[in-house]
Amino acid sequence: MTQKDSPFLIEEEKIKDRIKELALEIKRDYEGKRPLFVGILKGAFIFLADLVRAIDMDLEIDFLAVSSYGKFTETTGEVEILKDLQIPVKGRHVIIVEDIVDTGLTLKYIKDMILSRGPASLRICALLDKKERRRVDIDADYVGFSVPDRFLVGYGLDVAEKYRNLPYIKEIES
Ligand code: IMP
Repeated sequence: MTQKDSPFLIEEEKIKDRIKELALEIKRDYEGKRPLFVGILKGAFIFLADLVRAIDMDLEIDFLAVSSYGKFTETTGEVEILKDLQIPVKGRHVIIVEDIVDTGLTLKYIKDMILSRGPASLRICALLDKKERRRVDIDADYVGFSVPDRFLVGYGLDVAEKYRNLPYIKEIES
């Protein structure tokens, strides 16, 4: 196997180190505020849990569960809200926490929905960014890792509900 063909991998230690950096950046940007972290279920649950534990400040957490209709690994842009937020976002400094931005369709839908509710500010924190797959104009304000167009699992990411519990991120054949 050549270097080029090696499966893509982000090791556990590397994820930990990057999350510490993101946490410091977010803490600095939100000094004196009480941000509301909105984790997108299910994929972001591990990332959100590690991220907020690395941020030493007053903050709140809520979850939004969405399901994207589509084929195996593709999304179509249709998003169904399976669980809405419990904390009102009006006037709040909201940070959406997402596992991965792929086409951007899911995030665009969620972003527009939250914006329509009148937050004081809205930013996006994504662990992974698959930029070359983007179909709509949306970017995360905080990005853990830019990743190639490969199908990734682990650290919250799944394929048919499998592999979410891996402590690292790896590529699988799709
Ligand atoms: P988007 O709407 O195309 O940006 O898709 C975002 C969602 O698709 C993510 O929140 C994931 O749930 C899923 N997704 C996209 N790429 C991957 C991947 O490589 N592995 C696992 N899930 C993925």
